[in-house]
Amino acid sequence: MVESLLGRVEAALGGPADVAVAAPGRINIIGEHTDYIGGLALPAAIDRRIVVGLAAANSTTLHSLDSGASHALTRDALPTSLPTDAADWVRYMVGAIAVFVDHVAGPTASLSAVCAPFEAAVAGDVPRGAGLSSSAALTVAWMNALAAWSGHALDDHTVVALARQVEHRWLGVACGALDQTASQCGRAGHLLRVDFRTMAVRSLAVEVPHTWLVLDTGVRRGLAHSAYTDRVEAVTRGLAVVQQRYPGVGHWRDLSVDQLAAVDDAPVRARLRHGITENTRVDAMVAALSTGRLARAGALLDDSHTSLRDDYAVSSPALDAMAAAARTAPGVYGARMVGAGFGGCVLALAEPASAERAVGQILAQYRARTGRTGAGHRVQPARGAHRLR
Ligand code: GLA
Repeated sequence: MVESLLGRVEAALGGPADVAVAAPGRINIIGEHTDYIGGLALPAAIDRRIVVGLAAANSTTLHSLDSGASHALTRDALPTSLPTDAADWVRYMVGAIAVFVDHVAGPTASLSAVCAPFEAAVAGDVPRGAGLSSSAALTVAWMNALAAWSGHALDDHTVVALARQVEHRWLGVACGALDQTASQCGRAGHLLRVDFRTMAVRSLAVEVPHTWLVLDTGVRRGLAHSAYTDRVEAVTRGLAVVQQRYPGVGHWRDLSVDQLAAVDDAPVRARLRHGITENTRVDAMVAALSTGRLARAGALLDDSHTSLRDDYAVSSPALDAMAAAARTAPGVYGARMVGAGFGGCVLALAEPASAERAVGQILAQYRARTGRTGAGHRVQPARGAHRLR
């Protein structure tokens, strides 16, 4: 609950925060690994979030309540890099400060030139490393908090772009803008159809009763960084090859599956094919959900999983086992891995009346198949980043 997270943050600050912001994690209904090539996706912010609070102080210190650690910052000179063993939360928060200061005052500006000293505390209930974008929730919350604290208004697109830069510059992950867009722009009860070619965001309410289940494999995604970079490079390389043969193809979205024959490298061809087919599934999903055809929506989830497993090669035995277990449970329409892959969660669409029972059965079957203990949560499309104080 957001109130209890804020309570923890304010207890750590020793009183009410001067600025506090909540930003959510996300699910992605469909459109996986399409954002960094200007494709379509259908994410939603979820009712799990990160809360950051800031209060005036004599020096500047960051506290992570979830890891029980603190980090002091020198205000005169911002670091340009961090030791390789720095904790991820430090990397995200310090990186976000550096990106923010660079944006508002230039690359050589100090923190003291931009805002008064503060103490900041952060707490959250987005499962970490589960593919639900706890890191985007942190950078988006923190970026909004820094903007409010320093009196610089940032529009949604700028928050998204800056939060994404933190991943690129401070974590070395060449991610797209899916996670940050969902966290910043989410609307309660709505999915977001995002076109990453134009950055246009349209919200969509699903009127028929339905339940989104997040089924955590309990496996954290170790390989994710290097494999992610490999996929980004493969599709970029593949597109260049097709363009040599078909100079009229300006953007990857103008490609057809037939034209892929121009690519000799079979894995690269498969990566591009995933992009093309996944993109068509996004508007098919919008059509299915807006007309209440849940069985069709479930079939699209299943197809997406198959494509991510076979063509994009980002699934894992645990994700496959969880998705297969979900599909056999009563009242489940379909399931697929969500997020970057290699671990984390499966998303399933279920009938509300049988959802509880379905989770029990899915987890029992997952355990029987893998020997692992998973976890299941119902999630609801929720509001994006917002001020609490
Ligand atoms: C991660 C990245 C996103 C997106 C997804 C896959 O979550 O951060 O930008 O590429 O993987 O769809």
